[in-house]
Amino acid sequence: MNVSIIGGTGYVGLITGLGLAIHGNNVICMDTDLRKIETLNNGELPIYEEGLAELLKEATDRNKIVFTNCLKTAVNKSELIMLAVGTPEGKNGETDLSHLVQALKLVANQIDSYRTIVIKSTAPVGTCEMARTIIKDHLKNRFTPFDVVSNPEFLREGNAVRDFLKPERIVIGVDVYASEVIMKELYQSFDVPIVLTDTRSSEMVKYACNAYLATRISFINEISEISEKVNADVHAILEGMKLDKRIGELYLNPGPGFGGPCLTKDLKSLISFAGKANAELPLLKAVLERNEVQISNIIDYVISELQDVRGKKIAVLGLSFKAGTNDTRNSPAVHLLEKLLEKLLDTKILIHVYDPVVKSIEEPLNSRVVFPKNIEDTLRNADCLIVMTEWPKFKELDLEKIYHLMRTPLIVDTRNIFPYRKVYSLGFRYKGIGIASKRFETIQSTLEKSIV
Ligand code: UDX
Repeated sequence: MNVSIIGGTGYVGLITGLGLAIHGNNVICMDTDLRKIETLNNGELPIYEEGLAELLKEATDRNKIVFTNCLKTAVNKSELIMLAVGTPEGKNGETDLSHLVQALKLVANQIDSYRTIVIKSTAPVGTCEMARTIIKDHLKNRFTPFDVVSNPEFLREGNAVRDFLKPERIVIGVDVYASEVIMKELYQSFDVPIVLTDTRSSEMVKYACNAYLATRISFINEISEISEKVNADVHAILEGMKLDKRIGELYLNPGPGFGGPCLTKDLKSLISFAGKANAELPLLKAVLERNEVQISNIIDYVISELQDVRGKKIAVLGLSFKAGTNDTRNSPAVHLLEKLLEKLLDTKILIHVYDPVVKSIEEPLNSRVVFPKNIEDTLRNADCLIVMTEWPKFKELDLEKIYHLMRTPLIVDTRNIFPYRKVYSLGFRYKGIGIASKRFETIQSTLEKSIV
């Protein structure tokens, strides 16, 4: 099938385009970002994703992919036009659909025979119907037939290529039978369950999934806070929960709260458009609130532990919103730095940051922190180590070496990557997520008994 992806060099568009190309389709990835088009035409990638370079090479070698900034080419050469343009957060949490609307108008102006228009971008319920109206109003020839289809994506950063090539299901929202046939043909070679719904339900599936995932994270972070207050251990609690098949063990890791470009944005959008439909959503509003509390609790702890912070050094490991990616959009680590520097403005606090793939951030933060070239320099003479992401190279650190490198042995482990009993027995002060500090007194007294 001939497929064009509008917004084809963005995160979703590029992975979708390359994935469809190696499934045998002739794909045109169109984008207005000339720089990215040139990068891709030079065989390089504008984003980092494991396995993406191999996809690009295979699709290029098989002549199955074209990158262009020409919309006319993209629309005229393909019978299926997929829109994967950005739908960023707008005012009051609403989704900004301006890029999508603009793309729909331009596509409508181009089509002169039947096209299936697929909305891949995450957009509020009712967007396909809006798209139908916009296309009808902007058709070059008002009798040109077309259909609009919803086809949401479920890609996780750091895992996106696998998520596209081996999805657990494909969701397709159609309102007429003709486009159902075309979409089933497009995804037939994936050999996974296809969930066929109307467009509104398909649009809602995406929001329901992300809202549920965010709820799981806020839930386990709240259980962690209780665990800390009642002298329990969240790891043990999770052991007792996960064997219940209704709960499972995935996506229940305590942490600094969810970040990234999607979960927060999609939750706010859902709350916004549901509110317009007179649904108040107290639970999902609380999920967002819990997420805010999570990072402020960590900051309050650091400031309270450091007391007089003048001339002290904080080491932060991890800047992206999670391990496995270089994306710092809505990163808890960036929020932590912003809030710490705001609270400690006149103390000239020194913050050293190390991330395996992120080597700088936007101003004004960038000039307020130091980026040492390695972990050792980052930790040397530090008065507090804050672990913000769970990169394997952080988990493998030699704790005894860290103890002697730091000036004050204090670790705030927001990802629980270190074995807290060992950390404490080495003499660190340690804060994990969901681990009661009282548990350390038990370890301490056991240690003292063993020394006596
Ligand atoms: C998410 C959804 O998983 C994906 O299906 C959707 O298409 C886009 O949004 P993504 O944001 O890329 O994907 O990453 P994800 O792995 O879901 O992590 C989101 C945030 O939650 C990260 O900050 C991560 O650190 C955090 N998280 C995730 C936890 O704190 N605990 C967990 O158990 C899982």
